[in-house]
Amino acid sequence: MAQRQEVAIKNKEGIKKITLTPLNKVKINKKERMKTGIFEFDRVLGQGFVPGEVLLLTGEPGVGKSTLLLQALQKLNTIYISGEESPEQVKDRAERLNIGLEHFSFSNDLQVDGITDYIETAEEKPEILVIDSIQTVYSKDVDSPPGSVNQLKECAAKLIDIAKRFHVTVILIGHITKDGDIAGPKTLEHLVDCVLNFEGEQVSNFRVLRSSKNRFGSTDEIGIFEMKEGGLREVTNPLVFLDNMNELVPGKSIVGVNEGKRQLFYEIQTLAVTTILSNPRRVVKGVDYNKVQLLLAVIKKHLSLQLDSYDIYVNVIGGVKITSPLADLGIIASLYSSLKNIPISKKTVFIGEVGLLGEVRKGFQEEKIIHESKRLGFNNIYSSKNIDSVKKIINIIVRG
Ligand code: TYD
Ligand code: MG
Repeated sequence: MAQRQEVAIKNKEGIKKITLTPLNKVKINKKERMKTGIFEFDRVLGQGFVPGEVLLLTGEPGVGKSTLLLQALQKLNTIYISGEESPEQVKDRAERLNIGLEHFSFSNDLQVDGITDYIETAEEKPEILVIDSIQTVYSKDVDSPPGSVNQLKECAAKLIDIAKRFHVTVILIGHITKDGDIAGPKTLEHLVDCVLNFEGEQVSNFRVLRSSKNRFGSTDEIGIFEMKEGGLREVTNPLVFLDNMNELVPGKSIVGVNEGKRQLFYEIQTLAVTTILSNPRRVVKGVDYNKVQLLLAVIKKHLSLQLDSYDIYVNVIGGVKITSPLADLGIIASLYSSLKNIPISKKTVFIGEVGLLGEVRKGFQEEKIIHESKRLGFNNIYSSKNIDSVKKIINIIVRG
């Protein structure tokens, strides 16, 4: 008994008291958002940067991360740390892009402790600190090489501390590679306030900015850009991803989806060809692979089509990714059209999520897409309003 009491007393010594703050007494310091002036970027951020916010900007090398930041930060007081480019290279690019450099300072010094010390002691703190990239900086307190998980975590922790203490917005650039080597930057996702991904294929000029996490905004919004000679241009046309709306080809369908507050139209292309393989090919780009598998199962069951003798390729035009479930109906239409070798008629758009039972489900804010479709000149608009089951696809796609 006496022994137990002693243990209890000992434990009490190591215990730290917690403090409770009644939430209704908390005062929120509503700081001004810092707008970049690039509408597509600001919308994804949630109307600009929040002072002290830490962001992780990921993307494949060459997709345009540095270009995007150079263009977006020209009006903000920025320190740019680069382990990738020399000041001459950056200046040369900025001049080509006609970017004002009055607010930019640049450094190739990559020791994080030196960087944080500079911010701590600087009389005038920057509004923005860019680390390009988090894989190239290092801390004196970690032995492992730059880019290793230990270094990434230590450096990020030190930079986050600086961001919060001095209300400096910190942007960490993280490279990810095609073969999914995201282990590095991925380990930082839970530490930062906002995770932005800049997507696009090297072969296409379109770039999409998406956020997968945002403590200061919605994760629904996307920003669309086109990489041109003079840098990134904002894209506002909802039909920008459509090549030719009036071309009749089997396997092509157009889908309408919501991306945040805006409506967008994408072209799905499917190619179904007889296979010689016992395990037929399923090659999918631009939509989730498992989603296509699921839709193929729905087709097999509800449209009674034999799919095992076909190799099937599915692609979205423009090198972009569709994440909305409202594309389901159009993907099925495109698959059916290719399997039957019948083109879908002109000015047709599909809007709808498909369930496992073959039912077409009403999508979130479907009316908005229908309204936009009409405005843009589509006259065959298929959604849960006029098609309740995927079986009806058979009546829609008929040889003319
Ligand atoms: P960059 O911003 O350096 O990519 P990241 O920082 O993501 O590695 O962009 C490099 C690519 O962008 C390069 O392949 C060339 C292209 N680009 C243009 O097409 N036009 C331009 O005006 C600029 C600056 C770059
Ligand atoms: Mg770069």
